Amino acid sequence: MENKKTVRLGFLGFGAMGSVLAEGLARFCPAVKKGELLLSAYAPHADKLKKRAEPLGVEVRASAEELAQSADMLLLAVKPDQTESALKGISASLDGKAVISVVNAWDLSMFRELLGDGVRVQCAMPNTPVAVGSGTVILADEHSLRADEREEIEEWFSCLGAVVSLPGAKMRAASAISGCGPAFLYMVIEALGDAGVKNGLKRQDAYRLAAATLVGAGRMVLEGRGHPGELKDAVCSPGGTTIRGVAALEEAGMRAAFIRAVDAAGK
Ligand SMILES: NC(=O)c1ccc[n+]([C@@H]2O[C@H](COP(=O)([O-])OP(=O)(O)OC[C@H]3O[C@@H](n4cnc5c(N)ncnc54)[C@H](OP(=O)(O)O)[C@@H]3O)[C@@H](O)[C@H]2O)c1
Repeated sequence: MENKKTVRLGFLGFGAMGSVLAEGLARFCPAVKKGELLLSAYAPHADKLKKRAEPLGVEVRASAEELAQSADMLLLAVKPDQTESALKGISASLDGKAVISVVNAWDLSMFRELLGDGVRVQCAMPNTPVAVGSGTVILADEHSLRADEREEIEEWFSCLGAVVSLPGAKMRAASAISGCGPAFLYMVIEALGDAGVKNGLKRQDAYRLAAATLVGAGRMVLEGRGHPGELKDAVCSPGGTTIRGVAALEEAGMRAAFIRAVDAAGK
């Protein structure tokens, strides 16, 4: 059997998002474990970078130029307003290579303008639970990767959770659910925790039950056990306790509150 070619993936920027992506890949991606995907990183503050990268087995590079030259593919994880300056000066080293960008609000045409047609680009939007292998990665339909590169990154990212491919124009609406959604759902867990404590449970027990229930409900939907409404109906027996809770949530405007939250986040 032919051995897979080793790919060297260089993270330009290794803050909150760069480091959770690398953590997810290091923990859950077989290609990293088999040495077929090698991770390296550069960020300006060397001490901070070292502290984050070394425990994950990510090699530290001394400059953006060194990173760009030594990598086959770049993962760009800097802030939107840092993008131009981070790429300035290394575009020649990126020529003929691929860049995966997780930079919010930067699309393919903006990268084309900055880097020219010689650099292949894929815009992606991960969320922070990729660190624990239960995240989401949205990939823009519009990209300039080779078919084998796109296949390869889909394989890596699918180790981190659900991969969803969408037209670039829908990325903002989608990340209002998956990018901002963790914050909304942490609030749900906290609220269920308060409810548990109010009803005599220890807070840690209530959080554990709430968090595991949230994960379980999500898995039921992801594994195609039914439409969310059907799954809810299946837990509500006539005149039972759950339907009374459901009615209380409807009275409190739960659905409208979530719709408003996503509308506000996607603006
Ligand atoms: N956080 C999220 O939940 C999330 C979700 C999806 C997408 N994103 C996107 O991910 C990107 C990064 O966000 P973040 O939350 O990770 O920000 P962050 O924590 O501020 O990290 C930014 C990183 O970029 C580095 N950096 C700054 N200037 C640089 C330069 N000129 N060259 C190379 N590296 C440079 C910083 O290094 P120093 O620390 O050494 O200065 C830091 O490692 C953003 O574009 C954001 O839209 C974030």
